[in-house]
Amino acid sequence: MTRTPLISGNWKMNLNHFEAIQTVQKLHYVIPKGAMDDVEVSIHPPFTDIRSIQTLIESEDLDFSLGAQHCHFEDTGAFTGEVSPAFLAKLNTRYVICGHSERREVFGETDEMVNAKVKAILKYEMTPIMCCGETLQEREAGETESKVLGQIEAGLAGVSNEQIASLVIAYEPIWAIGTGKTATADDAQTVCAAIRAKVRSMAGDETAESVRIQYGGSVKGGNAPELMSQPDIDGALVGGASLDPDEFASIIQFGR
Ligand code: PGA
Repeated sequence: MTRTPLISGNWKMNLNHFEAIQTVQKLHYVIPKGAMDDVEVSIHPPFTDIRSIQTLIESEDLDFSLGAQHCHFEDTGAFTGEVSPAFLAKLNTRYVICGHSERREVFGETDEMVNAKVKAILKYEMTPIMCCGETLQEREAGETESKVLGQIEAGLAGVSNEQIASLVIAYEPIWAIGTGKTATADDAQTVCAAIRAKVRSMAGDETAESVRIQYGGSVKGGNAPELMSQPDIDGALVGGASLDPDEFASIIQFGR
């Protein structure tokens, strides 16, 4: 089964809507013709940029999917500062990141909340990019797989096999995010293969072969080819390097 790789740019809290428009226009300009034939690219700007980027993508017919970085799991209600998945769907958002380690660690998101978000995103026919990953301390204690596979089990509880097959899992070792340290391609492959095996045990062969697994954590043009060539790595979740159109374009070229 061939899985189309997904390269996602997670801008975090960077770039206002003017800067966002310029960045997406430049990205479109610098990607060589044909580089996106077998790869999908999603852009995840801050909420205040989403409408501008939606308009740009749709009016210029750009080959990028619109993404969000986060959402609430309820449709509406008294949740000051939160954004409903229904509102994101109205903007033709295609992918929504959930359970990013920064949301888990800084904003106290639990596995249960991540699970509720996965279901809410699917309910509005968008695709969750569900993140998982271990801290350095957990890695050094030999707890990488138990932590990551526990997050997968909890995050996907009660989600149908067909829905699991359609979603994206991002393996992001926390110690590699924004630090310049990357897991070796072998280490990243080992954990991504364990994630796929976990999905297989939960939801069967076909589902495990369909689900896309990204690697994230200091991905750059220089390390992308080796990471992307691993059999269980189906793309990348890119933070810092996605803010630079030239660097992001070079990662996209290695996505195939
Ligand atoms: P980074 O971030 O590429 O800057 O390490 C990745 C992420 O947090 O998604």
